[in-house]
Amino acid sequence: MLSGALPPVLIPADAIARRVDAMGEELSARLRGSAAPLLLVLMDGAFVFASDLVRRLHRPDLELRFVRASSYRGGMESSGSVALEPMPDLHGRSVVLVDDILDTGLTLATARTAALASCARSVEVCVLLDKPSRRRPGGLERAELVGFTIPDRFVVGYGLDHEGRWRQLPDICTLSA
Ligand code: IMP
Ligand code: MG
Repeated sequence: MLSGALPPVLIPADAIARRVDAMGEELSARLRGSAAPLLLVLMDGAFVFASDLVRRLHRPDLELRFVRASSYRGGMESSGSVALEPMPDLHGRSVVLVDDILDTGLTLATARTAALASCARSVEVCVLLDKPSRRRPGGLERAELVGFTIPDRFVVGYGLDHEGRWRQLPDICTLSA
């Protein structure tokens, strides 16, 4: 990729905004029966998605927490080894894990196990993107709420990066052919 050129758009910003509107409604409906739900955002990739999503929930009793997850990627490939910061106190809470993308599923499987080990009452998973063809054994198979299912392409923008670049793009773009 030439440093001045922008990568091709896969999902434009207006389509993302419409889908995040709908996801806000879907998640609000799912959380209707839960008192004081806790949204646990996996950083760094989910920071743009989560900031748009939470402003569509209109829940005064929502608690928002962040944990950093790294999956040690060599370029565009996951090494399969996931590092996760310690969980906050989740005792008895209805937890929603929010991430940018469900790829091999190893990060979200690790985060879900850690949330249950911290005594969460329930754990649901909400992701903007899902690449189902990439799952590995031991990875989370499916999320309760998915924005877009995409093919096996490496994507950047709307918070997703490649080696620290491209997070600021308003569209979701493809780096791999
Ligand atoms: P996992 O392979 O499901 O464990 O995904 C772990 C993390 O890798 C995701 O939360 C993303 O931050 C990152 N990731 C996976 N696929 C992509 C991609 O296509 N673009 C940018 N980051 C990705
Ligand atoms: Mg991530």
